[in-house]
Amino acid sequence: MTKHTARLRVRRGTADEPQPRYEEFALPFEPGTTVLDALIAIRRQQDPSLAIRYSCINANVCKECLIAIDGVIDYACTTRLRDDKVMTLEPLPGKPLLRDLVTEIRPPRERLK
Ligand code: FES
Repeated sequence: MTKHTARLRVRRGTADEPQPRYEEFALPFEPGTTVLDALIAIRRQQDPSLAIRYSCINANVCKECLIAIDGVIDYACTTRLRDDKVMTLEPLPGKPLLRDLVTEIRPPRERLK
C-alpha cells in the first residue's frame, strides 16, 4: 500500500489570461515515481485537459519535458516526486506559452505559419 502522497501545484491556462492560475493535484505514489509519471497519471485519472509535452518518457533524450520545477529548470521525466512539500510546476520561462506546461520550443524557422 502506498504511503506517499504528492501535492503538485500546476500552472494552468494560456498566456492570454491576465493572472497566472494554479491548480493543485494530489496523488499517491511509490518511491521512484517521476514528475512526468505523475502528470501522465493526472491526465488519465483527474484532468484530461492538462497540457504536457514529452516523447521519450524517461530517457532524458528528447528534452521535451523540460519545465520549471520549484523554480528550477529540470526534466519532468527524471525528477522524482517528493511528499515533504508542495511541488510547483510551471512552463519554461522565456518561451511563448501555448497552454498549461507547454511552451513553444521549436526554432522560429521551423514553425508553421
Ligand atoms: S520525456 Fe524525453 S527527456 Fe523527458
